[in-house]
Amino acid sequence: MNPTIETERLLLRPWRDTDASDALAIYGDEEVTRWLTPAMAWVPDVQTRHDVLRKWQDQDVAPVSHWAVERRDTREIVGGAAVLRLAPWEDLELGWQLARPAWGHGYATEAGDAVARWALHRGGVQEVFALVSPGNDRAVATARRIGMEWIGETDQYHQQKLELYRIRHDDLAYCEICETEEPADRG
Ligand SMILES: CC(C)(COP(=O)(O)OP(=O)(O)OC[C@H]1O[C@@H](n2cnc3c(N)ncnc32)[C@H](O)[C@@H]1OP(=O)(O)O)[C@@H](O)C(=O)NCCC(=O)NCCS
Repeated sequence: MNPTIETERLLLRPWRDTDASDALAIYGDEEVTRWLTPAMAWVPDVQTRHDVLRKWQDQDVAPVSHWAVERRDTREIVGGAAVLRLAPWEDLELGWQLARPAWGHGYATEAGDAVARWALHRGGVQEVFALVSPGNDRAVATARRIGMEWIGETDQYHQQKLELYRIRHDDLAYCEICETEEPADRG
């Protein structure tokens, strides 16, 4: 079971079967899914969405995780966040998605930052990536706000040409969710 991660305004918690309608409001919107890889593809109805949530729950073995992103004040599900394995490689990809009404409040930055910190401090990996489709300017801005750096263009993953961003363990000075001081060594 994925851990629950609390940030200033958000709660990242495991998806539940009862979240299918809320999840459909996010992933049933082609403006959201058009930017996502096949594992996050658009689905048409609540039942199919329910089955996908079940599949995510079954797949999740840390550090691979899928979270529902809830606002702490209203308990509304505003999006999703994930750490995914870039099979057949060992590399890990961060993902974040928001329902359109939730764009423009910094929720993706807040959730993405928390997930990056979790993966790098608890997942036992030195680096994590984000893969952004050309033209997805909002995702690029979010990746940069999280502190990810542009590595280049790649067609190594998902059989698509994608922009590769990366953040490394040593880029993070302090892990609030780990509550330990970890001095950054930037060489
Ligand atoms: C990518 C996506 C999650 C970005 O959403 P977003 O709302 O633009 O990003 P953030 O949540 O980081 O919010 C940033 C915006 O909120 C504003 N903001 C307000 N309060 C803020 C705060 N406390 N902290 C940071 N930004 C804040 C920023 O100024 C920025 O505004 P701008 O877009 O006018 O420049 C969203 O567009 C989406 O779901 N897209 C489809 C799925 C997708 O592409 N996922 C990524 C695949 S790699």
